[in-house]
Amino acid sequence: MHVHNNQKAAAASTATTAADPGTDSVRQQIEALGPWFHNLHLPGGVQTLPKHFLGGDFPNFKWQEIKPFVPEDLSGWRVLDVGCNAGFYSFELARRGASVLGIDVDAHYLAQARWAAGQLGMESQVEFREMQVYDLARSGETFDLVWFMGVFYHLRYPLLALDLLAERTRRIMMFQTLTMPGDSVYTDTADCNIDDRTPLLESGWPRMAFIEHRLANDPTNWWAPNHAGVEAMLRSSGLRIEARPGHEIYLCVPDAQAQGARAIYGSQYESATGVIRGGG
Ligand SMILES: C[S@@+](CC[C@H](N)C(=O)[O-])C[C@H]1O[C@@H](n2cnc3c(N)ncnc32)[C@H](O)[C@@H]1O
Repeated sequence: MHVHNNQKAAAASTATTAADPGTDSVRQQIEALGPWFHNLHLPGGVQTLPKHFLGGDFPNFKWQEIKPFVPEDLSGWRVLDVGCNAGFYSFELARRGASVLGIDVDAHYLAQARWAAGQLGMESQVEFREMQVYDLARSGETFDLVWFMGVFYHLRYPLLALDLLAERTRRIMMFQTLTMPGDSVYTDTADCNIDDRTPLLESGWPRMAFIEHRLANDPTNWWAPNHAGVEAMLRSSGLRIEARPGHEIYLCVPDAQAQGARAIYGSQYESATGVIRGGG
């Protein structure tokens, strides 16, 4: 993510003149660890980024939409939080009883997450690891719940990541991506005549816009699929959409009937990752 500079002013707003010396010290640590992207609510009513540039209490307002769709009791569940950032979702899922692995490429955000775990007394339930999503190809671990929010469109190789995460999802994947406007779905996509490719121009044809330079001044935003494209990619990776908890958010489950595409892409996956999976 490329938001550090954009957030400096907002992060500075976390410093106030609270009277409690303990709280003051926490606020100073928050400022030293900034800039922040997640507004975490810490003990003593302290927040890490109360005036978020995305508006409101982010990502808590998204969590409020999603949480009715997540089992209240996640005891015994192993959860993977991809691109965990400062750990907002990792902590919420751990509060429901899950054992959580949060991964991120950015050491800056992981330092925030580890510090916050200490503040929240949640170090035994949540582990944070610095790694690329693609590194998971070399791990055999699977997860009951894969939380894949806010990362897909930041990836240069998004389908490689989606394929390997789908294979590691035992029960649920919560998927979110930046999208193009529009909800239409053109269903007649089984084949397309090479001499008449006009169906590809239909508004509901699955597609993904490539962002060569910037979107929202962020050069790490590479892709913006449309809704039909999200549906098609999730299906093609062996997932079935069960619910849409919010805008651009998809709750998926593994679909044993939808493994067909793996036979077609399998050798590319293995060549790209160097990992032979076997079993097809
Ligand atoms: C837009 S933030 C989303 C944070 C959080 N998942 C959420 O939904 O609020 C994207 C996060 O993904 C991380 N990230 C980007 N590319 C990644 C990659 N290839 N592997 C792992 N994490 C990545 C970034 O460092 C950043 O923390």
